[in-house]
Amino acid sequence: MTAVTGQQKPDPDTSGEADSGGARQLTTLRGWRSFVAERPAVPELLPEDAWRDLDDGDRFRYDEVRLAHLAKLLVVATPTIQQVIIEGRRLQYLNRHAALGRCGLILSGPARTGKTTCLTQLGKTIETMHTRRHPNAAGQHIPVVYITAPPAATPRMIAVEFARFLGLPLTRRANITDVLEAVCGVCLQAATTLICVDEIHNVNLGTRHGAETSDTLKYFAERLPATFVYAGINVERAGLLNGNRGEQIAGRFSMIRTGAFGRGQQWQALIAALETSLRLHHHHAGSLVELAGYLHNRSNGMIGSLLRLVRAAAIQAVLDGSEAITRATLESIPVDIASAGEHLPT
Ligand SMILES: Nc1ncnc2c1ncn2[C@@H]1O[C@H](COP(=O)(O)OP(=O)(O)OP(=O)(O)O)[C@@H](O)[C@H]1O
Ligand SMILES: [Mg+2]
Repeated sequence: MTAVTGQQKPDPDTSGEADSGGARQLTTLRGWRSFVAERPAVPELLPEDAWRDLDDGDRFRYDEVRLAHLAKLLVVATPTIQQVIIEGRRLQYLNRHAALGRCGLILSGPARTGKTTCLTQLGKTIETMHTRRHPNAAGQHIPVVYITAPPAATPRMIAVEFARFLGLPLTRRANITDVLEAVCGVCLQAATTLICVDEIHNVNLGTRHGAETSDTLKYFAERLPATFVYAGINVERAGLLNGNRGEQIAGRFSMIRTGAFGRGQQWQALIAALETSLRLHHHHAGSLVELAGYLHNRSNGMIGSLLRLVRAAAIQAVLDGSEAITRATLESIPVDIASAGEHLPT
């Protein structure tokens, strides 16, 4: 497995936002574009002598750059991400030439199994390819829209999320039809080809609002020549595929499931890819992979829990000066409640 993003210079237009600790909002066009333009650069480690000779100010700045990198690490091209990108691209081509009956994709799985990462990496890939195909339309086209469904979503809330992403001004009096029309108008003009709706489990067809919201999404899907990709927690169980409406969705969408890793080669490859992106002075290459079994026990094979552990241990190694991740460092870091097998009181 390799990192999706290579060692390239950060885009000067967007590095300001990237420096702000990744607090960028993907659900606005500006935040989304800065995410798409971002080419995370992995900092170089100084040779041992030069590192020792740094004065306090330079050492502080050097460590700040490393800590910012270690807090994120790189996105690893896991088999699921690769599958999502292949399927998403395939649907793009199929849908582009279909007048009716366009197909979509649902990513479904437990919490923190990488659904949002898969969805956003697909969006980034599609937008990058679109921009390559239409170099003169840069800044005018909006090839990808990314929104999250708010809790207990209503049609108006979904329409407003689209409008917010596109930066459309909303007056209090604008009724839902106005908003829908404005959104469709902009998406058609801006050649939108991929619409990502995250947290789709917030649309529950078992409720009236949920059913109406699903109808609103369907309306968008009929009006716009775009591929729709939904991501959410255990979508089958959340009721998105129930009843007649659910049957229609099931007939049009394919599904890719995200889940825990087993202990096999894919888990080791994931850890190896993360390990190569560490920038620590005393870390022995391969020592993290040797802890693969231990890391699996700690995280239950959940990619989100693994990343949390490894990022925290890497930061700890810089802060305490040990400059290496060892089993002892990992022991000192608590994992999330779900992986620790504890539960919040009900
Ligand atoms: N392929 C990957 N490479 C590196 N980090 C990853 C990868 N996939 C997921 N992560 C990290 O794991 C964590 C959880 O991932 P993500 O938010 O994508 O999961 P999710 O399934 O959308 O979670 P939730 O159910 O809470 O929305 C994040 O910190 C993310 O950066
Ligand atoms: Mg998510």
